[in-house]
Formats: sequence, structure tokens, C-alpha cells
Amino acid sequence: MKLTKTIFRCQTCAATAPKWLGFCDRCSTEGSMVEEQFRSTVDETTEQRYGLSATDSLPAQLLADVDLSDTPRLASGFDEFDRVLGGGIVPGSVVLLAGEPGIGKSTLLLQAAARVARLIGPVLYASGEESEHQVKSRADRLEIGDVPLYLLAETCLERILDEVKRLNPALLIVDSIQTVFSLKLQSAPGSIGQVREAATHLLFTAKGNNLPTFLVGHITKDGSLAGPKALEHIVDTVLYFEGERHHSHRVVRAVKNRFGAVSELGVFEMAGDGLHAVPNPSQLFLSERASTAPGSAVLCSIEGSRPILLEVQALVSSGNYGSARRTARGIDHNRLSLLLAVLEKRAGLVVAGDDVFVNIAGGLMVTEPAADLAVITAVASSLRNRPVRPATAMFGEVGLAGEIRGTTRASLRVKEASQLGFTRCVIPHTNQLPSSGGSDMQLVGVRTVEEALEALIG
Ligand code: TYD
Ligand code: MG
Repeated sequence: MKLTKTIFRCQTCAATAPKWLGFCDRCSTEGSMVEEQFRSTVDETTEQRYGLSATDSLPAQLLADVDLSDTPRLASGFDEFDRVLGGGIVPGSVVLLAGEPGIGKSTLLLQAAARVARLIGPVLYASGEESEHQVKSRADRLEIGDVPLYLLAETCLERILDEVKRLNPALLIVDSIQTVFSLKLQSAPGSIGQVREAATHLLFTAKGNNLPTFLVGHITKDGSLAGPKALEHIVDTVLYFEGERHHSHRVVRAVKNRFGAVSELGVFEMAGDGLHAVPNPSQLFLSERASTAPGSAVLCSIEGSRPILLEVQALVSSGNYGSARRTARGIDHNRLSLLLAVLEKRAGLVVAGDDVFVNIAGGLMVTEPAADLAVITAVASSLRNRPVRPATAMFGEVGLAGEIRGTTRASLRVKEASQLGFTRCVIPHTNQLPSSGGSDMQLVGVRTVEEALEALIG
């Protein structure tokens, strides 16, 4: 017996309603409810639908008896990429690689696929977006050569699963999940119902066959397209591919990882022959710095498990054009407002009537509070038109009372600065451990914003 009924599903959060609504009553997005035919075949159980069987399942196991030794990770051959994944590809895991169109997702996965195919075994690359010709011409550009890499220009989920059964690959790549549709649902490809159905199927296939699977997901600037957001809780690992299209470097960041640290970072450079790992990102991010210009401060940041030096730039200009503007790129806008208020109240630097622009050079997004001190310093340096003292790096959280608070992993940050030739570090007083830093590094512990500015641009 088949039952078909019409429901309305929000394309942002997947909430359903029996009738059409102008906005979703769960996530309040306007105009996001789309009609969907929901056909439930009563004679098809979940067991049949996802190819599961209750009799195959193993009995519960004692935690102490679980053996980890038989699940080695697969090396993708791309150290930067393996690091983001937490040390290689976990068998049976499902990884979502999300990013804006044109950022390089297909390129990265094709390169990883070629290496896995060469070293481990056949790879199935299901491409719904591009024909075999297009993928092949990219592969030629990347000089992939003769490896057991199977291309399938197919968007039908059932066909992809058939090919998985036939080829029994070591790795499956689906590019992109938004183009895949299941014959069992009537809603349009790309709608959230289809995307979730396809992802759930692929998840069961991955777990059942111990087959690592990569899904490509497109996001738009506001993250509104159906897919990646709604998939984040289904998959094991979510990677975001970031970068500016006008710059050649790209950053892959883990935002969720069941098998490793989150906010782990991999830095790549896009060249004519594909993506190359950047061995020393700090050098890259500081490469264009004008060290004697006012308004530039070097921050020792930690991304995931890795220290990275970044340049925080600020420009304060007298705004004679009505209301003062505040522009933040790479840091949170509200955080900037808060820091400007602290600067005004606790250090007496008034920026109320001025336009303030703050930018993290290189297009990286920094969320950790340890960036506060560098932001304040860059703003104060621009306002006073005095450069930060030479060869000086810094980090530290700024509290509302103008105090400089300690941060985690101080010695790692200091070490990175020392390696890149910085000889002086202004750090929170509480982080000034006797053991931290190299021998030729001068550490200046500060307690307040005033003290810090004195040490940095005084
Ligand atoms: P692509 O991987 O197709 O992006 P996505 O799958 O995320 O949409 O790559 C897009 C851009 O990368 C494209 O503008 C061309 C550029 N590119 C290079 O610069 N070098 C290369 O070797 C390749 C393959 C692509
Ligand atoms: Mg692509």
C-alpha cells in the first residue's frame, strides 16, 4: 500500500508543516517552506530501505574489550589534509567538505582520491556536477596519471550505491551531495528532503561496508543553501574550505570531528597544477607585512593544535561624514565594539567620532579571545600614528576592567614567534612561566591594557 501526502518542508532547518506558511515557525526564515510529496510505502520497512538487517548486528560489547588496533587510518598522502582529519581518513567515516562554489573542493578531493587510489585501492568518484570529460581534464591538469580511479557522472543515489557494490572501492567521493537524488522521494533534487535522504543512505553504506566517504556540499555566502547546515549532525566530520577567491591560499578547517580536534587547520596554496600544502603558514600570512607602518600588530594565535602568527591591521580615520563606521574583517564585529569601549574607558583613547577598520590579513577568521590584545594594539597604534615596536609579537585576552587575562598554550605561541625571528613577546602576566620561550626571546608580562600599550607602542 502506498500513501502519498503533501507536506511543506523548510529548506533551511528541515522542519515540516501540514500546510503552507509564509515563514518557518521553527527557524523563522521567510519564504523557505516548499511543497514536497511525501510517499511512505508502508510495505517497505526502514530495514529494507537502508539495507540493514537486525540479525547481523553484534551483541553489546564491554568498553574494555573494544579493540582499536584493527582500525588503522588511511593516509590520504596529503599531510595537511590528514592533519585536519585528525591523522588520516578513518574507515567507515563520513566527511562533509563544505565551501563556496569555485573555492577548490573538487580539486582537493580529486588530488586526495588519486593518492588513495595509488596507495590503497580503487576510488569511486561520483560527480553529479561535472561530466567525465570535465573531471578528466581537471585530472590531466593535476597530472594524476594512471591510477584506479573510477568516474561516475551520476546523480541517482540508487545507481551510485549499485556501483559501490560492484566496485567495492576503498574510498567514495560524492560531488556534490546537493545534486544527488533518490528515486524513492518525489521532491526535487537539491531540496533538503533529498539531501538528507541521500546523506543518510550513504552514512549507512559507509558504516556497513567500512567505506570512508567524502561528501561535497556547497554553501553560499550566508550559508542558506539547503544542505551543509542540515547535514552537520548526520556526518562524522565537517570540514569548511575557506579563502578568498582573489588570493591563492586556501584554508581547510575542521568544525566538527568525531575523530580528532576541532578547529584544526590545513593551509594550501592554489597553483596552476592544483593545491599544494603550505609548510609554514605563519610565514605566508606575514609575508606582505609592512612592519614599520602604524596600525599593524602581530598576533600569536592557536588554530586547532597549531600556532600561527597573523597580522592584525587597523585603520582609524577621522570620520567627518556623520556617524562613525566600524568595520571588522576576520574578527567578530561585536568583539571589536567591546574592545573599543575598553580602550576608551580604561586607556583613555577616544575613538568615538572616528571610523575604525580592523582586518586580519590573509582572510583568516579568528575567534579566540587571545586575539584581543593585538586588536587593541593595532587600533591604538593607528590612532597615535606610531608603529608597534620592532620584532614584537603579542597575545592575550582583554577583560572588561581593562585587565589582560591569561590564555592557553602560551609557550607554544612564544616558540612559533621565536622561530620566525621575533625577539620580544608581550604576554599576559599570568602566562609568564619561567620555562616558556626560547633563550633569546624577551618576554614582557603585562597586567592591564595601559601597561601593554606602554610596552608595545609607548
Ligand atoms: P574547483 O575544485 O572546481 O572548485 P569547487 O569544486 O569548490 O567548485 O576549483 C575551482 C577553481 O580552482 C577554478 O577557478 C580554477 C582553479 N584551479 C586552479 O587554479 N588550479 C588548478 O590546478 C585547478 C584544477 C583549478
Ligand atoms: Mg566542484
